[in-house]
Amino acid sequence: MTITLTPLPYAEAALEPAISAATLAIHHGKHHKAYVDKTNALVAGTGLADAPLEAIVLDAVARKDGKLFNQSAQAWNHGFYWHSLTPESSQPGSELAAAITGSFGSLDDMLTKLVDEGLGHFGSGWAWLMAEGNALSITTTHDAGCPLGQAARPLLVVDVWEHAYYLDRKNDRGAYLKAALSLLNWRFADENFARSTAWTYPELTTSA
Ligand SMILES: [Fe+2]
Repeated sequence: MTITLTPLPYAEAALEPAISAATLAIHHGKHHKAYVDKTNALVAGTGLADAPLEAIVLDAVARKDGKLFNQSAQAWNHGFYWHSLTPESSQPGSELAAAITGSFGSLDDMLTKLVDEGLGHFGSGWAWLMAEGNALSITTTHDAGCPLGQAARPLLVVDVWEHAYYLDRKNDRGAYLKAALSLLNWRFADENFARSTAWTYPELTTSA
């Protein structure tokens, strides 16, 4: 059993014009696939060979195995990112909407903060909408930084690595972030907000 590449939950062209099919083809088929393949290569023949992806990431954290962490966390983050976007229009459900208002003032204020934090993040990384109870926050992580194992749980994430937007936007990360706002999958965020556990995302850990 090995971890497998999370299938895109939509067609490669489904997020156009915000994110092009060419970007998704390379981002998913090359970048994400490479993280999955390298994770499998690193755990082959070890006690983690049959482990789900979350367990691999958490084991790498516990053993301070940076090489395995970088590959496995990137594999997980990308699976979460694909599900954080959708071509279907959506809005936060009533419980999440109330938490957003309580934490940020309004949905527009939250979205502005997501763009600002993503734009202000230095170098490669991720911009997350996180929840700890009903307290929501926007945080960024560097490189492969991943929230698995933290008390706060992720609701949505936007990839701010250059490979997420450079083909479409060149160096204009802000334009990518603003375009991505209309794609946020609030149904997925609602599901994550309702979870009682911090990191059980079975749809991201399919195995062969
Ligand atoms: Fe990426």
